Amino acid sequence: MLTWVVVALAILVLVPLDPGVRVGDFEPTPYTGKVNPSPNYMIQDHYFQSGDLHCHGWLYLPLPNSTEDASSSNNNNNEKLPVVIMASGFGEQKDFFGFDVYAEEFVSRGFAVFLFDYRNFGASKGHPRNLVSPKRHVQDWQSAIDYITTATINKSNNNNSNGTITVDSQRIGLWGMSFGGGHVLTVASQRQNDTRIVGVVAQAPFLKTSASTKKSSKKRGKLGKFRLLLAGLQDAARGYMGLPPVVIPILGIKGQLAMMPSTPKNLEAYLAQQPTLKLGGWRNQAPTRGLLELKFYCPMESVRQNPPRIPVFLVSGTRDAVCPSHVIEQVHQLLPQSQVITRNASHLEIMGPDHAPQVGQKMANFFEDCFR
Ligand SMILES: *[C@@H]1O[C@H](CO)[C@@H](O)[C@H](O)[C@H]1NC(C)=O
Ligand SMILES: *[C@@H]1O[C@H](CO)[C@@H](O)[C@H](O)[C@H]1NC(C)=O
Ligand SMILES: *[C@@H]1O[C@H](CO)[C@@H](O)[C@H](O)[C@H]1NC(C)=O
Ligand SMILES: *[C@@H]1O[C@H](CO)[C@@H](O)[C@H](O)[C@H]1NC(C)=O
Ligand SMILES: *[C@@H]1O[C@H](CO)[C@@H](O)[C@H](O)[C@H]1NC(C)=O
Ligand SMILES: *[C@@H]1O[C@H](CO)[C@@H](O)[C@H](O)[C@H]1NC(C)=O
Repeated sequence: MLTWVVVALAILVLVPLDPGVRVGDFEPTPYTGKVNPSPNYMIQDHYFQSGDLHCHGWLYLPLPNSTEDASSSNNNNNEKLPVVIMASGFGEQKDFFGFDVYAEEFVSRGFAVFLFDYRNFGASKGHPRNLVSPKRHVQDWQSAIDYITTATINKSNNNNSNGTITVDSQRIGLWGMSFGGGHVLTVASQRQNDTRIVGVVAQAPFLKTSASTKKSSKKRGKLGKFRLLLAGLQDAARGYMGLPPVVIPILGIKGQLAMMPSTPKNLEAYLAQQPTLKLGGWRNQAPTRGLLELKFYCPMESVRQNPPRIPVFLVSGTRDAVCPSHVIEQVHQLLPQSQVITRNASHLEIMGPDHAPQVGQKMANFFEDCFR
């Protein structure tokens, strides 16, 4: 009898029968470098350790432009630059739509920018690919801060400027969008007493599960929730046993088992925005074990317990159904030193050309004040 129970359980775990899930990982395409798009800054590749893996980041460094003469480029030797650390949102990576717009704005103001990929994403190492894990993402943020503030950066591969640059470990800004916006607030709360972090930008931040998932959870129904839970448990068990992951789409449409249900129109618009060749060969799939963690991840609660005492710049969209503006208003109330700007935008639109250039300038002004 007991044997049969064990066999039945083993089958349940090892053979996911749900037609909405798939089994399998993918091999990331090798990273071949980024073509520098501008003479005004350079982009360097950096790897840093997080946990037992290596994450990859692009370090944007401002360059003296050609109108400046050699003497001013000498002044640039051994300088200390404030740095804005950036990372992407849910199931995303740094080459996705929009991040470069903000990064370029910041570097044009003379800040270094460190835009990195979470473990298992983009040019970062790790299997299974595209593992969404708030716990690990937050660790990656911590590792990125520790790395970039202690790195000595070699600038001599550029002919204009010949010295070393160091990032000013006393002037760190954090920038996150959506899920990443939740992470920067969580990290700022964890580092509440770390005076080196002087400003935080959280655009359309994810703050608590209930807000953004209540609606879609209702739509999923009890059966849908059970299927997700089972898939999550199966994937966790398979991960533990070193078997290929159980995956579902990161973004899907209503009726499909997906991490983030969307409308066909929004899904298509989102995917169409992304580069054709994505770092690491990103696919719209993620291991379901991440779902088990999501329930317990609450940046709002972190902020409530250890409110950061530094300036915080919040951006919310009036038509944002994923990270609604009234929830962002709540976190604004918890943070006396915060400001919020509200745009007539959906979650998707806020990264787009109608908002990002203008909002990016405001963010850069904000960081300029923080870095003084
Ligand atoms: C070069 O720098 C000067 C002074 O900072 C600025 O006015 C000019 O627009 C810059 N040129 C370019 C091409 O960015
Ligand atoms: C700096 O870069 C130059 C050229 O790429 C290289 O020859 C040199 O070894 C580097 N120095 C350090 C300290 O990494
Ligand atoms: C630096 O100068 C050398 C020789 O003048 C040239 O071959 C090389 O491409 C230049 N490197 C960069 C990064 O501009
Ligand atoms: C860079 O430094 C090297 C060694 O100190 C020197 O020979 C070279 O002329 C410098 N280049 C510039 C552009 O300052
Ligand atoms: C920051 O310091 C205060 C006072 O020492 C302490 O009560 C608080 O727990 C610290 N916050 C964190 C996140 O460690
Ligand atoms: C907000 O944008 C939507 C869609 O572009 C438009 O229909 C609406 O009139 C705008 N609302 C305001 C207050 O401007």
